[in-house]
Amino acid sequence: MEYLKYQFKSLEKIPTKVWPGAREGSIHIARGIALAIRQKQQEGEHIVLGLATGSSPIQVYQELVRLHREESLSFSNVITFNLDEYYPMTPGAQQSYVRFMHEYLFDHIDIKPENIHIPDGTLPLEEVESFCKAYEKKIDALGGIDIQILGIGRTGHIGFNEPGSFETSETRMVRLDALTRRDAIKDFLNEENVPYRAITMGIRTIMKARAIYLMGWGQHKAGVLQKAIEGPVLPLIPASFLQNHPNVKAYLDLGAAEELTRFKSPWLVGLCNWNDDLICKAVVWLSKEVKKPILKLTSEDYNEHGLSDLVVEYASAYDINIKVFNRLQHTITGWPGGKPHADDTTRPERAKPSKKRVIIFSPHPDDDVISMGGTFLRLVDQKHDVHVAYQTSGNIAVHDHDALRFVEFLQEFTAAEGICKDDGVADKMYKKMIKYLQNKRPDQSDIAEVRRIKGLMRRGEARAGARFCGLDDDHIHFLDMPFYETGRSRKNPIGEEDIEVVVRILEEIKPHQVYAAGDLADPHGTHRVCLDAILGAFDRLKEQSWMKDCWLWLYRGAWHEWPIDEIEMAVPLSPEELLRKRRAIFMHQSQKDRPPFPGNDEREFWQRAEDRNRATAETYRALGLAEYEAIEAFRRWKF
Ligand code: F6R
Repeated sequence: MEYLKYQFKSLEKIPTKVWPGAREGSIHIARGIALAIRQKQQEGEHIVLGLATGSSPIQVYQELVRLHREESLSFSNVITFNLDEYYPMTPGAQQSYVRFMHEYLFDHIDIKPENIHIPDGTLPLEEVESFCKAYEKKIDALGGIDIQILGIGRTGHIGFNEPGSFETSETRMVRLDALTRRDAIKDFLNEENVPYRAITMGIRTIMKARAIYLMGWGQHKAGVLQKAIEGPVLPLIPASFLQNHPNVKAYLDLGAAEELTRFKSPWLVGLCNWNDDLICKAVVWLSKEVKKPILKLTSEDYNEHGLSDLVVEYASAYDINIKVFNRLQHTITGWPGGKPHADDTTRPERAKPSKKRVIIFSPHPDDDVISMGGTFLRLVDQKHDVHVAYQTSGNIAVHDHDALRFVEFLQEFTAAEGICKDDGVADKMYKKMIKYLQNKRPDQSDIAEVRRIKGLMRRGEARAGARFCGLDDDHIHFLDMPFYETGRSRKNPIGEEDIEVVVRILEEIKPHQVYAAGDLADPHGTHRVCLDAILGAFDRLKEQSWMKDCWLWLYRGAWHEWPIDEIEMAVPLSPEELLRKRRAIFMHQSQKDRPPFPGNDEREFWQRAEDRNRATAETYRALGLAEYEAIEAFRRWKF
C-alpha cells in the first residue's frame, strides 16, 4: 500500500488511478455511472452507455445492481450498446455476451428491453456488414455514447480490436488473435470450440465516446497496460490509441499497476521516501540491470541508474549492499516449520513449538503439490502435524473422455460382479451418464452425476498426492466450497457457507501455520475467492487465543512467483526433492498431457512448477546468494 503514495506519473499518458483492489475501483466507476444516470434523469434526458463483457466489468455491474436494489437507481432512461459478440454465437449459449449481460446486469435492473443493443452473432455472413453500419448509425442517432467502459485483452485489444486495428475502424467483423482465443478457452472448454471471429465496435466508435473508463484488474494485465499507458501510440497495442482521448481514465488494481514505472522503478520518475522494502526492491532491480551480484554493486552503478539519492542517504554503496544481501540471505531456510532449538531471530519462522500443527489450503486439488510440493514434503519429513484441505472439487477441469472411461469402468465392474443386479438403478445411471457424455455439446454444463464423477476423480488424485507426501487419510480434508459448484467456469460469488467451512477446519485443527494460495492479483479467479474465504475466516476467529500463534504464509499459484524483494521465506530444494515433488504432481493424472484449462502456457504443470522454482533459485544465485537447484517462495500475510 506504501506505493500508492507515489505521485510521480510523468510517464503515464493515460491518466491512471490505482486502487488497492478491483472492488474499490469498480465501485468508484459504478458510482460515477450512477451519478451520470441520475443527472440525465433530472434533465429528462436519456444516457447512452457503452458496455463491455469479460471479467473486468463484473464488479461494476454488481455494484450497479446493488444501487438499483438498495438505492433506487433507475435505468429507465438508459440505452446501452455492447462492444462486441463472438461470431457465430447464439444468444442462449453459455459463452454468449447476450447471456452474460442478462445474467450480470440486465435481468436485475429496470432497463427497457428495447434499449439494449448487442451485436448479433446469429446473422448470416452476408448480412453482417449492413448490421454493423446500422449499429454505428443507431449510436450516432441517439447522440453518441456518453460513457464507455472497457477492459483490455492481453493482446492490448479493446473491444475485439486486435493488434493491427486502425484508428479509423468502425463496427465490423474481425478475426480473433490467437492469444485472445487461448484466453477464451476458460469459457469454451477447449480451443476447437472458440470462435475465430467476432463482431466488434471499432477504435473510432470507442474514441467518439464522451468519457471512457479503462479497467485493468490483475497482474496478468500489467505488461500490456504498461505499454498502453506509457508506451508510444501504436496499432500493435490498440488500447494505446486511448492516449489521444480527451476524457479517458485508467483504473487499475495494484497487480495490474505493477509494471508502471512509478511502481516498478519509482526512482526513475521522482524522489522516493526510502524505506527497507523499497531499498530492497531498488537493489534487486539494480543488480539485474547491471548484471552484477549485490555485493559487487558500486556507487557508480547506483549513480548511473537514478539511485544517487539512496547512496547519499546511506553514505555508501557498501552499506546498502550488505543490508539488502543480509535481508535476502535471511529469507532462506530449509526449515519451513522453524528450526527446533535454534536461534530464530533472523529466521523466517519461529523455532517453537518444534512440532507445529499446519494446514495447507489448496484451492484446486493439485495446487498444494504444484506450488509448494517441496515444502509440503519437508514439513512432513520434519515431523510437523500437517493437514491438507482441498478447497474446491475442481470438477470442471476433467476431460469428458476421461470421465467416460471411469463411468464405463464402473458399468463393466458392476455388471461383472453382479452388483445391484436386481433393481438396475446403478446401470440406469451409468447409461444416462454415458449417453450424456457421448452427446455433449460444447455449450452444455455437466449434469450433476457427471460433475460428481469428475469431482471424485480429482479427489482420488489429490488423496494420492497427499499420501505420497506422507499424510494419513485423516489428515486429508475435502471442503467442496459451494461457490465453485456452478458446473461452468463462471463461479458464484463467495457466500457465508464458503467462509464457514474454512472456519470449521481452522477451529478443529487450531494450526500454528497456515499455507494458502496468495494470488492477490487475480481478482475474480478461484484462487482469489479461496483466499478471501480464508481471510474472512481469520477475521471471524481473530479473538480466539490460539489465533495469536497462527501465522499465514502465502504461496503463489501455477502462474507467477513473488517478486524477489517480496519473498519472506525461500525454501531450497535439492535435485532429489525436486524429483519427489514432480512425482507428487504426477499423481494428478487428469491434469497431465493437456488439461482442459491449460491457460496460455503449453507446458505441463510439473514443468511450469520446476521452471519457476529453478528460475527463483537462479535469481538468488545471480544476486550473489548460494546456488540451489530450485526454490519455493512464500510471503507472510500480516493482519
Ligand atoms: C469484452 C471485450 C474485451 C474484454 C477484454 C478483457 O466485451 O470487448 O475487450 O474487455 O478481452 O477481458 P477480461 O475482462 O475477461 O480480462
